[in-house]
Amino acid sequence: MSVNALYTDLSGYYDLMCVDIDYRAQSNAIHRLHQLFGNAGSQHLDLACGTGPHVRHFLDVGYTSSGLDIHQPMLDLAATRCPEAHFSLQDMGQFQVDEPVDLITCFLYSIHYNANLEKLSACIASAHRALRTGGVLCFNSVDKERIDNALFVKHTAQQGEDRFTFRSGWHYAGQGERQTLRLSIEKSTPAVTQVWNDEHPMVAVSFGELIALLTPYFEVHVFEHDYQTITPWDNASGNAIFVCVKRDG
Ligand SMILES: C[S@@+](CC[C@H](N)C(=O)[O-])C[C@H]1O[C@@H](n2cnc3c(N)ncnc32)[C@H](O)[C@@H]1O
Repeated sequence: MSVNALYTDLSGYYDLMCVDIDYRAQSNAIHRLHQLFGNAGSQHLDLACGTGPHVRHFLDVGYTSSGLDIHQPMLDLAATRCPEAHFSLQDMGQFQVDEPVDLITCFLYSIHYNANLEKLSACIASAHRALRTGGVLCFNSVDKERIDNALFVKHTAQQGEDRFTFRSGWHYAGQGERQTLRLSIEKSTPAVTQVWNDEHPMVAVSFGELIALLTPYFEVHVFEHDYQTITPWDNASGNAIFVCVKRDG
């Protein structure tokens, strides 16, 4: 079992795995939320930016966009996709910016890559420090108390003669502050099938705990996990979009 092969040796397959994700819709939704809740600034930073698909969309709608990630192979792909953006190799648990920004995003549940609650708290504090007055932190999250270990997402893709099957799902043992993202990548050529299994350790947090961590730094708004409409969270869904407006001081 590998830990992060998807972001290192297999990074060249990452975009293929995500081919069904509507990055434009996600970016547009957060852009709308930023217009509603933000300070009208256009400096943007994407945490755990991966290969840079969101950075691309934010650049295209007029932001000065940048990204950080902990894996250089992902940043190399991001730099190819977004040559005009600045990317840096950093751990989002203790990141720094040269100039303050107006919007910080973190997509695809990547905020959970902070390995435990202490690191998640440090990431929230770093985001608060990095934002200008009225700046906004936006991310999506899954509530540990609502994880269904039986659920997984399966997706297949063809690249030339190679057929790929990607599977991913959350696993939470029911207690503690650790959950895992289980991923498998199967690559079949006419001659041979290879399988890689990744298990990514991540922080497990309930939405109640998360709101308590954020509230000293931010005014917190929680929305349903729907990038098409802006709907307040119903206090029941296990996935949500967090929009956090910087408190000064
Ligand atoms: C699921 S991918 C998401 C990539 C991109 N945001 C997207 O939506 O396609 C998670 C990303 O988090 C990065 N990552 C993992 N741990 C990190 C950390 N502590 N700090 C910064 N990036 C991290 C990985 O390298 C990977 O690129």
